[in-house]
Amino acid sequence: MASSSSIRVGIAGLGWPGERHAEAINGSTLGTVYSVCDLNAERLKAFAATFGPKHIFTSFDEMLMDQDVEAIVICLPNSLHYPCSLKALEAGKHVLCEKPPTMNAAQMRTLHDQAQRRGLLYYFGRQMRFSPAMQTAKRLIAERRLGEIYFAETMWIRSRGTPIGLDGWFTERSKAGGGVVIDLGIHAIDAAWYLMGTPQPRAVSAQTYQKFPQLVKNKTFDVEDNATRLLRGSRRKFDGTQN
Ligand SMILES: NC(=O)c1ccc[n+]([C@@H]2O[C@H](COP(=O)([O-])OP(=O)(O)OC[C@H]3O[C@@H](n4cnc5c(N)ncnc54)[C@H](O)[C@@H]3O)[C@@H](O)[C@H]2O)c1
Repeated sequence: MASSSSIRVGIAGLGWPGERHAEAINGSTLGTVYSVCDLNAERLKAFAATFGPKHIFTSFDEMLMDQDVEAIVICLPNSLHYPCSLKALEAGKHVLCEKPPTMNAAQMRTLHDQAQRRGLLYYFGRQMRFSPAMQTAKRLIAERRLGEIYFAETMWIRSRGTPIGLDGWFTERSKAGGGVVIDLGIHAIDAAWYLMGTPQPRAVSAQTYQKFPQLVKNKTFDVEDNATRLLRGSRRKFDGTQN
C-alpha cells in the first residue's frame, strides 16, 4: 500500500507497458497510480478495476489539468511521445515516457531543456539498464575485471511477430516513427552503449531492409523490418567527460 506522501502518478496509454508500470508503481512505497487515461473505454474500465486509480480520463489534456498529479507515465503510440511529454513538462509534471522518446534529436534536446529549466525529472523507458544482469555486468566492467571493453556486438531478433498484432500501428511510419530500429534496436544499442560507458558517437553506417510487407493485408507497412549498423565512438563520454 502506498503511503500518503507517495508520488501521485498519472498513466496515459493502458496497454501491456501501462499495466507493467502500474504494477510497479502500486507495488512500491514511492508512488501510487492516481489517474489513468486511454481512449479505449474497455481498457479504461478493466484497468481501473485492477489498479484502482482515483480518477479516469479519456483526454490526456484533461488529466494534465489535475494539479494533484505530480508525474506522468506515457505509454501511448510512439508519435504521441514527444507532444505529450512536452505538454506534461509544460504543465509542471515529471515524465517517464516509453521508448522511443522522440522522433528526432532536436525534439529530444527540447525535452531535455524543458525538464532542466523547470527542475523536473524526465526519463525514457530503458528498463534493461536496471536489470540485475546489466547492473552486475556494469559493476564487473567498472572494476576492470573484464579488461578493456573496446568492441561490442549487440542484437535483438523478435521471434513473436509484430507487437500488438499485424493490424496495429507498429507497421505505420506516421504512428510508429520507424520500425525495428526504434522499437528493438533502441534497447539493444542502449545495452551495449551503457555498458561501454556511453561513448560519444563519431560515425554511423547502417542498412535497413523491408522484407515482410506482403504479410500485411489492407494495411500500411512502410517501416523497416530489419537493420544492421556499425557505430564508432570516441573515448569521450556522451556528457563530455572522459571515459
Ligand atoms: N520499454 C519496453 O520494453 C516496451 C515494451 C512494450 C511497449 N513499449 C512502448 O509502449 C508504447 C505503447 O505500446 P503498446 O503495445 O501498449 O501499444 P497499444 O496500442 O496496445 O496501447 C496504446 C494505448 O494508447 C491509447 N491511446 C492512443 N491514442 C491515445 C490518446 N490520444 N489519448 C489517450 N489514449 C490513447 C490506445 O487506446 C491504447 O490503449 C509504445 O511506444 C511502445 O514502443 C515499450
